[in-house]
Amino acid sequence: MRAEDAPLIRLEDYRPSDWLIDTVDLDIVLDPTRTRVRSQLQLRPNPAGHAGAPLVLDGDELTPDSILLDDVPLDPSAYSLSAQGLTIHAPPARAFSLRIETTLDPGANTKLMGLYRSSGVYCTQCEADGFRRITYFLDRPDVMSVYTVRLEAEKTQAPVLLSNGNLVAAAELPGGERHFAVWHDPHPKPAYLFALVGGKLDHVRQDYMTADGRKVELAVYVEPGKAGRAGWALDSLVRCMRWDERVFGRNYDLDVFNVVAVSDFNMGAMENKGLNIFNDKYVLADPLTASDGDYASIEAIIAHEYFHNWTGNRITCRDWFQLCLKEGLTVFRDQEFSSDERSRPVKRIADVRTLRSTQFSEDAGPLAHPVRPRAYKEINNFYTPTVYEKGAEVIRMLKVLIGEDAFTRGMDLYFERCDGTAATIEEFLDCFVEASGQDLAHFARWYEQAGTPTVVASGKYDAQARSYKLQLAQSTPATPGQSHKQPVVIPVALGLVGKGGDLPLTSISPALKAGGVVVLDQPSLSLTFTDVPEAPTPSLLRGFSAPVRLELDLGDSDLLTLFTADSDSFNRWQALQTVAMRTLVRAGKGDMSTLDATASALGKALSGFLADPALDPAFAAQVLRLPAPADIAREIGIDVDPDVVHGAHRRLSAAIGGALAGQLADLRVSLTDRGPYSPAASPAGRRALRNEALGLIALGEPASGARLGLAQFAEADNLTDRLAALAAMTLIPGAEREDLIARFGELYAREPLVLDKWLMAQALIAEDGTLTRVKGLMNHPAFSLGNPNRVRGLIGGFAANLTQFNRADGEGYGFIADIVIALDRTNPQVASRLLGSFKSWRMLEAGRRAKAEAALRMVQTTPNLSRDVADIATRSLA
Ligand code: PHE
Ligand code: ZN
Repeated sequence: MRAEDAPLIRLEDYRPSDWLIDTVDLDIVLDPTRTRVRSQLQLRPNPAGHAGAPLVLDGDELTPDSILLDDVPLDPSAYSLSAQGLTIHAPPARAFSLRIETTLDPGANTKLMGLYRSSGVYCTQCEADGFRRITYFLDRPDVMSVYTVRLEAEKTQAPVLLSNGNLVAAAELPGGERHFAVWHDPHPKPAYLFALVGGKLDHVRQDYMTADGRKVELAVYVEPGKAGRAGWALDSLVRCMRWDERVFGRNYDLDVFNVVAVSDFNMGAMENKGLNIFNDKYVLADPLTASDGDYASIEAIIAHEYFHNWTGNRITCRDWFQLCLKEGLTVFRDQEFSSDERSRPVKRIADVRTLRSTQFSEDAGPLAHPVRPRAYKEINNFYTPTVYEKGAEVIRMLKVLIGEDAFTRGMDLYFERCDGTAATIEEFLDCFVEASGQDLAHFARWYEQAGTPTVVASGKYDAQARSYKLQLAQSTPATPGQSHKQPVVIPVALGLVGKGGDLPLTSISPALKAGGVVVLDQPSLSLTFTDVPEAPTPSLLRGFSAPVRLELDLGDSDLLTLFTADSDSFNRWQALQTVAMRTLVRAGKGDMSTLDATASALGKALSGFLADPALDPAFAAQVLRLPAPADIAREIGIDVDPDVVHGAHRRLSAAIGGALAGQLADLRVSLTDRGPYSPAASPAGRRALRNEALGLIALGEPASGARLGLAQFAEADNLTDRLAALAAMTLIPGAEREDLIARFGELYAREPLVLDKWLMAQALIAEDGTLTRVKGLMNHPAFSLGNPNRVRGLIGGFAANLTQFNRADGEGYGFIADIVIALDRTNPQVASRLLGSFKSWRMLEAGRRAKAEAALRMVQTTPNLSRDVADIATRSLA
């Protein structure tokens, strides 16, 4: 079948499986090129399915060595094989067993789906549909089975043998060269949560006692010699387990919990039951090889995967359309955890930045889709910012709308009612309807309707009547397949800010709910606040209470008032961003007339802000960072010239950096920590501010920037400061920069995860020479197209370089398109993600748009594309 002809899978076509599999017994003999898999399945007809239906087992790149039904070899006429699997035409209409043997070549598996080897370690990845690459199966999440897994291997090759659940037996085999281990997972689970690991691994471990009294052995496994870098992950695990007990009342449910880090992994990490497998980038950390950002990501992703044990594993998804049921909810949970561990406002700002740069841009382009898609050709292309990040925003809004107590009761009900099942969004929402007594039918539209709503707000104060009238209107732009949009339920958390702080909120409008939340669920709404003693400045969408674009009728001076006086930290940050964004949008369209005035207004506001002795450095670091060029481009939205946008960003940054250079340099001195490195939030916040300041100085006063950058590199005792020095120097062309790049590369020649950042820093240089530089770096001994992290670092970095990916001559597009085509032959998932870099091509000016389109067409018309890449190419061009 050609990829373009892949069937469209539709939510409305869902039917329960005709067959169920109660138990799975796997006997796997690991071998680098000939791994033998014996599977025994206990099947029975599903009472909810069609009686007498054939048994259609999924299989991908498999051939059966033998098939036995109730221990009798199956006659070849009784079944047929296809590229999609194995069909037994007339299975007995009762429970029966099936034994199937397959042989795998894990060493040749470059797709990194199913069983593969990563630096000599056997490992698996089964979500979404990788289990069918191991053995024939009903590979769908609503078929849940109890697994027993026997693993056998040569002792020297794989001294560690792990699978899901608890270890029930392990021993040497006669002769002493081979050994085996048997793992049993008592919790029925879908096949996508199966995992095994075999290899030479070191580990760190710790005992843990759950709140409900279960003793659990926790362990983190890493490549030999790297156990010294596993401590932070283990520490994060313990903290998130306690947090889930305290905040969600969730205890762990097995005797062991293992985390394994591997160096070749398509995604971030995977929540396999009791055996999480991680991209090593999200496990390994020590001060000289991991940045503050890495420490924070490790903490968040360890938590994310652990939290899946309840939201994903105990309660899984009925089908892949419900992916946000586990992902959106689990992202929400990990964000809450990080907020509690660190600074809530700073975490919120960082998350909103990510949401806007990844999800808003997806929503604005040809790949836009609802949080719960209705149809897909390739499910791997739906692990998106929309499903994850917007999915989390929907949960956050739900909590704001029904209130904290009802939210907690709804979650408790969900855990109780849906435990052990494969559930749907409807079943999830029903729990909150019951817990809150509210009708959530309209709210549910957030799951169905794609696109980022815009809220337009305007207000008017009546001094005589002491009243303030606020008008809100919403609209959502058309997205592929959804030309006509309905209003959604938008919780707008707000305040009215006066000279001395927040003013009381009094209104008889039913739209105003407790806690200062106005619910905008109609196309427009007008409400009047009474007893308002002075002309207020409205602070809208506090804490970013809904994933929408907000257009305000406030002038810069009102926004600067909010920046200093708002009680909501998020909106303080947002106010300054808005001031900068307005000028940058204008300048990005070629009108520089307001740029210098804004630079001086921002400079003044920042100068006062930075002088405050009560300054929170982590928050201040966020404030200092202007909207990124890609965000400005997205706001412009049409006929974008990336060079003009980039130029505007540079000019504003340089003006601010120049005006504040002296103050920033002094501030940097006062922020310098003398003690040993700690990844904790507060020293990390000081480093963040210090390094944000360095970037501004580098643009405003390149000579002092270079001096400070080189000094920082020489003195740094941690990767964060070294990387910041490198990043600042990449802004300043010249021999010193090239020298620092070379020294950094040598220093970390044997640290691939650090080299990824080094590659990316170079790939992001906004200069014409970057494409040549990147092509040259593909020959670096550490680079390989076979390793997803290397590809994401160098090639992904280049594709994120606004001016160079979007070179006017189209060479950037051609380069990425060629790599997508080459990579598609070995790893379609990584190739299709890379192709997603074209998602904003329609907003470009005509010349670039034509060149981007030509590159996409070149990909689309390449013969034998994977379903993954064909799907993205086709949707991008539609
Ligand atoms: N389920 C994983 C997570 O979010 C992501 C993932 C998807 C990993 C598919 C691998 C493959 O937590
Ligand atoms: Zn997840």
